[in-house]
Amino acid sequence: MNKKVFLWSIVVALGGFLFGFDTAVISGAERSIQSYWSLNVFEHGLTVSIALFGTVIGALLGGIPSDKIGRKKTLIWIAIFYFVSAVGSALATGWYAFLFFRFLGGLGVGASSVAAPMYISEISPAKSRGRLVALFQFNIVFGILIAFLSNYLIGGTGPNDWRWMLGVEAFPAIGFLLGLFVVPESPRWLILRRGRVEEAKATLQAANPGADAEQTVREILVSAEVDTRKPADAFFSKRYSRPITLAVLLAFFNQLSGINAIIYYAPRIFEMTGLGTESALLSSAGVGLVNFLFTLLALNFIDRFGRRTLMLIGSFGLIITLGLVSLAFFNQSFEGYTVPIYLFVYIAFFAFSQGAVIWVFISEIFPNQVRAYGQALGSFTHWILAAVIAFIFPYVAETLGGGLTFLIFCIMMVLQLIFVWRMMPETKETSLEEIEREVVHT
Ligand code: GLC
Repeated sequence: MNKKVFLWSIVVALGGFLFGFDTAVISGAERSIQSYWSLNVFEHGLTVSIALFGTVIGALLGGIPSDKIGRKKTLIWIAIFYFVSAVGSALATGWYAFLFFRFLGGLGVGASSVAAPMYISEISPAKSRGRLVALFQFNIVFGILIAFLSNYLIGGTGPNDWRWMLGVEAFPAIGFLLGLFVVPESPRWLILRRGRVEEAKATLQAANPGADAEQTVREILVSAEVDTRKPADAFFSKRYSRPITLAVLLAFFNQLSGINAIIYYAPRIFEMTGLGTESALLSSAGVGLVNFLFTLLALNFIDRFGRRTLMLIGSFGLIITLGLVSLAFFNQSFEGYTVPIYLFVYIAFFAFSQGAVIWVFISEIFPNQVRAYGQALGSFTHWILAAVIAFIFPYVAETLGGGLTFLIFCIMMVLQLIFVWRMMPETKETSLEEIEREVVHT
């Protein structure tokens, strides 16, 4: 693989590292924060979830700057948001200020799930696009793991430990910001929104020296001419209904697999099966590690097997593991590590399929003209469901019980299997413009 495009992708994928770190860090900090400001149950809940509200807004609005000022400048703003959020939350003198800064970080997370995968997708050669965009997911998972680790190391060092847990995020944020200065603007955006064809051609050439950059430019120009309406007006027309349906459903099923209920509440779920706090925490670290390893594996297969095949394999695995967890709860059969083991296998299947595929697929299924809006819609669907599920999971698990809750996730994965099998096209090794010709209604 070409070194330059790999470097650019790694830098931009750092947006994912911060996404993972930022969403996971609070799980280790919340207890100290609660006692620091003597928060009641409601305030405590808001402390944990405020960033998630930010992600929803950040995802919803992130398409606008990506389209208007460009992918690169948007990413620079996101890095600044991450930095200000980390420093501000760490130094906050009052709870309201703290909430404000956490919200800002959430905006960064939401917007980065729009701008970063889209950027990488637009710069990558078709043959390695899956792997390069999946670096974003790899970084998310790595960020989650590092947050767990850093919380573990910092935790218990005093009543201000949470300040350090949150504050250290400023370092990767600076790295992200500085790195972005060596990254060129997306060639597809340059052509579509600025008409800077020569500059775009040079970037395409550098990213994929073996290919015919001239030809790619011609195809991008054609894709700019087939629909000359304003992207915001054209977006909801029949022409784009297929990619919209595909992205929204993929994001919907991603969250309805229960992934974030498990990632955010792992220790609690393990405690429900009778594990002690210590083993429950250890099992949660195991979740992070398995997620990491299998994402790495998926990176190697996503361009060979294809997105669809990974999703088919994953759906089967998720149905079986969720079914087993549900059964264990119904029968209350929790000997030893039965449930943690099922959940590890579940995470392995998730990482190998949905986890690796979601950001790749959403970033490639929309035509050039409307990609920023499409990516925003897909991310928004993902984040609103992540927020709702995180919010209601403890309540639902308590009222319906673990058996029924996991059965619901299991049924959702059966529906996902049908969706993938009947509707999801394969996009591997296909240029963005070829995909475009296949998916739009003409
Ligand atoms: C994917 C999901 C995200 C989840 C993560 C866990 O990125 O989109 O919501 O937290 O995987 O690995």
